[in-house]
Amino acid sequence: MTNTAVIITEYVYLISIILFIVGLKKLSHPDTAKMGNLFASAGMGLAILTTLFYPIETETNNYMLIFAAMLVGGLIGLIAAKKVQMTAMPEMVSLFNGLGGACAMMISFVEFYNYPAGQSLMNGQILTTIFALFIGSISFTGSLIAYGKLQGSLRDSLVLPYPKIINLTLLLVIIGISIYIVSLPELSFVWVILLLVFSLVYGVTFVTPIGGGDMPVVISLLNSFTGLGAALAGLIYGNQVMLVGGILVGASGTILTILMCKAMNRSLLNVIIGGFGTSGGASGSSKDQNVKEATYADLAIQLKYAQKVIIVPGYGLAVAQAQHTCHEMEKILEAEGVSVKYAIHPVAGRMPGHMNVLLAEADVPYPQLLELDDANREFPSTDLVLVIGANDVVNPAAKDDPSSPIYGMPILDVAQAKGIVVFKRSMSTGYAGIANPLFFNAKNSMLFGDAKVSLQKLITEIGNA
Ligand code: TAP
Repeated sequence: MTNTAVIITEYVYLISIILFIVGLKKLSHPDTAKMGNLFASAGMGLAILTTLFYPIETETNNYMLIFAAMLVGGLIGLIAAKKVQMTAMPEMVSLFNGLGGACAMMISFVEFYNYPAGQSLMNGQILTTIFALFIGSISFTGSLIAYGKLQGSLRDSLVLPYPKIINLTLLLVIIGISIYIVSLPELSFVWVILLLVFSLVYGVTFVTPIGGGDMPVVISLLNSFTGLGAALAGLIYGNQVMLVGGILVGASGTILTILMCKAMNRSLLNVIIGGFGTSGGASGSSKDQNVKEATYADLAIQLKYAQKVIIVPGYGLAVAQAQHTCHEMEKILEAEGVSVKYAIHPVAGRMPGHMNVLLAEADVPYPQLLELDDANREFPSTDLVLVIGANDVVNPAAKDDPSSPIYGMPILDVAQAKGIVVFKRSMSTGYAGIANPLFFNAKNSMLFGDAKVSLQKLITEIGNA
């Protein structure tokens, strides 16, 4: 009977794994992403239920505790997901990721706690458990620091002295303790606690020196660590669904980290030790240079008589929550016979796919979005480009100035268009903290103000024009 039950649960695990993989595949396109989420959630639900009924030889009955924890955790997750603002999504992902790391850490800790006395430690099981404890702990405290930095409660100026030396020393201490634990004739719980404490501290010292602006990349990296931690926990328990789920999270987190670094033309090492994005919002204006200011009336007329307009959305559009107003203006212009498209930079905003999600929320049809290379081909034949709340992704210094920290990053080359208007509130810099020469380009004018308010005023003017 038990054997049959085990075989059935293994098959149901296999179905869960298939649901994860299909879900992940569907997540790679905006049209199918929602369905992909549902598939993956169904897979996870099935895996949890199956695990509850997995036949094990145990005398204790923890069902009440398990259901209570699931209810509390599920409710918190549901409320948090419903309430979170789109711009605060990286914070939430960071927090949830930290909790995943904490799970891997606790599983390993409990395994050590229950380790049979007098049993040899020279085995793969102990090494796996040590590694899971280490990885889970870094993900946990590292994600909490990332959350604090994104939220603004932890400032970048809070930097420890000699961070590289501290981190290297801690890493060597952790490796030394791990080797010592394995070399002992029997498990010493005191050393396990020391390993846990040093690993938790390492998570803090690893993330603290990294600039706040680089937190999305760090979160993605920590996410891949958590996946690895879960996969190791799957190995500890011999649980295939946990193993495969962890591998999928680990692999996708790693791919995402690499893609983000590539789109910024930076190495992962540069992100970890670079202190990029720590300079705050210094003025982006250059001395002795003046910018032209656009007026609503002029811009409305230019837009009405344009044939082709491209909108470049950026982080500021998300902050202003101006996506619906932007789509409204775009529909008005299209009704006037103007062709309107959106140019999407892969790292516009603060999280992968940020602009795609934002525009999908406002029901902008997906075929209207241009990827970087296609947009760059279209700019020379474009009458007017509206840069709405974007800055770094259109900064020509990335192309022209070898001394610029963003030199080499592919940009949306809006300067190729016949006219440009930048919508932002001031001359402040964007995430990279550097001045943008585009603002002083002869073809460019600035429309200062909150993006949503500016777009609302512009819609009124277009109506009057
Ligand atoms: P940013 O360069 O950060 O510029 C955003 C601009 O929006 C700011 O200059 C700001 O100027 C303006 N803004 C803010 N609030 C506004 C509001 N309410 N109304 C109008 N404008 C507003 O944004 P971007 O061009 O999207 O570039 C993204 C940056 O993030 C890149 O450097 C990228 O490397 C980095 N990054 C992205 C990711 C991902 S995955 N997307 C991950 C890591 C790093 P004012 O203050 O003057 O208004």
